[in-house]
Amino acid sequence: MTLGHQKRKPVVPLRITGTGAYLPQKVLTNADLASFLETSDEWIRTRTGILTRHVLSQGEVPAQMGVRAAERALTMAKKSPEDVDLLLVATNVPEEPIPGTAPHIALGLGLKKTPFFDVTAGCAGFIYALAMAGAMMRTGLSCTAIVVGTEALSRFINWQDRSTCVLFGDGAGAVLLERAEGNAGILGIALRGDPTKLGLLRIEAGGVRLPATVDTVQAGKHFLQMEGKGLFRAAVGMMAEATRAAAAQARIALSEIDWVIPHQANLRIIEALVKRLRIPAEKVVVNIDRVANTSTASIPIALDELVRAAKVERGQILALTAFGAGACYGTVILRW
Ligand code: ACO
Repeated sequence: MTLGHQKRKPVVPLRITGTGAYLPQKVLTNADLASFLETSDEWIRTRTGILTRHVLSQGEVPAQMGVRAAERALTMAKKSPEDVDLLLVATNVPEEPIPGTAPHIALGLGLKKTPFFDVTAGCAGFIYALAMAGAMMRTGLSCTAIVVGTEALSRFINWQDRSTCVLFGDGAGAVLLERAEGNAGILGIALRGDPTKLGLLRIEAGGVRLPATVDTVQAGKHFLQMEGKGLFRAAVGMMAEATRAAAAQARIALSEIDWVIPHQANLRIIEALVKRLRIPAEKVVVNIDRVANTSTASIPIALDELVRAAKVERGQILALTAFGAGACYGTVILRW
């Protein structure tokens, strides 16, 4: 069957030839959380769709997860680190404030002179990094790029705050992108930001504005703070708007999308989004029940599951959409 969209050339011809993910071994169930918090499996399940989440153990760090995920993507693509000429790392939890996470992942992968840098755009970081890698490939700055999302918000949440700590999980995902002629590649990109909403999700202390002091630590200002209801409302509208804009740029109808891979923030947000876009549930990838909200890692982890389950076929259209702190949001539409 020849579809209309197949004739259109991608704005960035490329193939995702490898995907990989890594989840820490330690798993926390809702019942585990209810053993030390005033919460319940029923509350968490019905409000968020989350049943379990993976968390880093003491001594483990996000860069290790990123390295594992990238290695798996390289293995799938039958490529070695020497083939890679760009590494982008989306994360909100720098391994250290300077020099961040990307050099640690580059070191772990054994990259020598490959350029690398971190991309910080809240939970939309992976979408931004993917778009950036695509732009660099389009200009010829890169032929083979790894984009990693790695996150360990478990290290920045207050485990006594039931309104935030039940939502997040740790993990990493990665994709290997290769320039390719033909019809596969990025068809549309919409990146957006709304700085008036920067107060919806933040860690106030530890930066230049509010440096770490005994007082900031005692006041709990190094933990993630969230306005849940405001985020919920913003998230649905933002991802819907960006997806419509990316689809318009791609010159496809929303009905032509075969798979939507949304940021896994809350099952109810995902359901409201796809209802608004009139996309049937069977086209939507959901794994929040098992992994919770892994921020920048959520989309590459979900994509890796889809690919390894052999559900994606050449020529299919994928829409990846996310929102997050900042508020940054965006959608990338690509043809597999
Ligand atoms: N267990 C039991 N009760 C709880 C819990 C919990 N874990 N958390 C909150 N409650 C209580 C509240 O204290 C409140 O009690 P009260 O009425 O006595 O004051 C009651 O439940 C209702 O709380 P609400 O905040 O109104 O609950 P809501 O229905 O809004 O759901 C939730 C909260 C799940 C956080 C929702 O607002 C949400 O998902 N928002 C979006 C969150 C999100 O997407 N965050 C990440 C975005 S960016 C990124 O991904 C990094």
